[in-house]
Amino acid sequence: MRVLVVGSGGREHALVWKIRQSTLVDKVFCAPGNGGISQIAECVGIKADNITGLIEFATKNKIGLTVVGPEVPLSDGIVDRFSVNGLRIFGPSKVAARLESSKVFMKELAKKYNIPTAKFEVFADSAGAKKYIKGLKGKFVVKADGLAAGKGVVVCSSKDEGFAAVEAMMERKIFGEAGNKVIIEECLEGEEASIIVVTDGKDVVPLASAQDHKRIFDGDKGPNTGGMGAYSPAPIVSPDMMNTVMKDIIRPTIDALGKEGVRYTGALYAGLMVDEAGPKVLEFNCRFGDPETQAILPRLNSDFIGLIEASIDDEIDITSLEWDQRPCVSVVLSSGGYPGEYKTGFEIEGLDALEKIKDVYVFHAGTKVADGKVLTSGGRVLNVTALGSDIKDAIDRCYNAINLIEFEGMHFRRDIGYGALKRR
Ligand code: AMP
Ligand code: GLY
Repeated sequence: MRVLVVGSGGREHALVWKIRQSTLVDKVFCAPGNGGISQIAECVGIKADNITGLIEFATKNKIGLTVVGPEVPLSDGIVDRFSVNGLRIFGPSKVAARLESSKVFMKELAKKYNIPTAKFEVFADSAGAKKYIKGLKGKFVVKADGLAAGKGVVVCSSKDEGFAAVEAMMERKIFGEAGNKVIIEECLEGEEASIIVVTDGKDVVPLASAQDHKRIFDGDKGPNTGGMGAYSPAPIVSPDMMNTVMKDIIRPTIDALGKEGVRYTGALYAGLMVDEAGPKVLEFNCRFGDPETQAILPRLNSDFIGLIEASIDDEIDITSLEWDQRPCVSVVLSSGGYPGEYKTGFEIEGLDALEKIKDVYVFHAGTKVADGKVLTSGGRVLNVTALGSDIKDAIDRCYNAINLIEFEGMHFRRDIGYGALKRR
């Protein structure tokens, strides 16, 4: 079978890498891909949001299965349109993807069906939102309703920060229509974890747990990013906690959608805040996480295509996954200045040396190949990933590998995995 992966980040490199291992797969294409993906698959110059172009490509090239990485094509209805054209594709339909593309939809569904989440109010005008903020005490969170490339959430420590967030989203429209409505919600304390499941709309199979690191600097300081590193498993997600998350959050959400007439298929990602009272949902994503996927897939022993096909063919009830028990750590190397402005086009050195190290993988994000050299081309550049006999070993192996890599302005967090180390 010929498989098309849509997207161009570290998550898509990990997906392509894992999909190539399947005995069911003859050839993998990626649209548009990146410098690392181009070394293991055929990259085609079609952007992830060009659904018409992707349909034409998939039809012409007899693609047997398409796997979508990012949320934008999913929320634009890529799954609906591929299906209408008789093309097999993995992921939720446009209405199901509203779980991610409208935070108001997600929060109201959670409220209606008693799915644990932060208390919230919805506002469609900035005056109302500001008036509400005036009456709040302590920390709170302002969220744009729609997609904002991971930047639509502001955790506010003061009313002024709240007013500024509301003005930016609702008056200056920095995220366009995504800021037509905002949510203001209570600030939850605790530890975060990501649970990703694959579902056929009836049954679910969880992937191994993971933890992301959103802030740019060590100790969770500085602005939010797309994610600076991840590890799997997340020790806070004990087997009991996993059962609770499935029973109280994941299954009720899929059932709630079902009662609303929506069948959710594909990957469902729950971003959780966990404290003594149990887990609450911060957000749902309608796709695999980035960078969680880079730390999860190296631990998966089962055939990934089998899992994807089970979601499409309604066979999740007879699917189980086998995992490598060793932990995995993935650290993002970014361009200096990211998530603000940064320069690109710098040569990356040392990649060859890493290829020889067992159980170390480099998933590319913002890279391109020119004249036989690998150059930086984005904010997040590489995900250096290592398995280890325990979390300490995985961290050490990962950072030892990073020491071999160099490019101008390279930045990375030095504390990825330390949260897991503390809990040992
Ligand atoms: P989201 O894009 O919804 O995942 O939010 C981004 C980040 O904001 C999360 O990973 C949390 O760190 C933080 N966050 C979102 N909602 C809340 C909340 N209600 N309380 C505390 N932190 C939150
Ligand atoms: N790791 C956060 C995300 O994928 O949205």
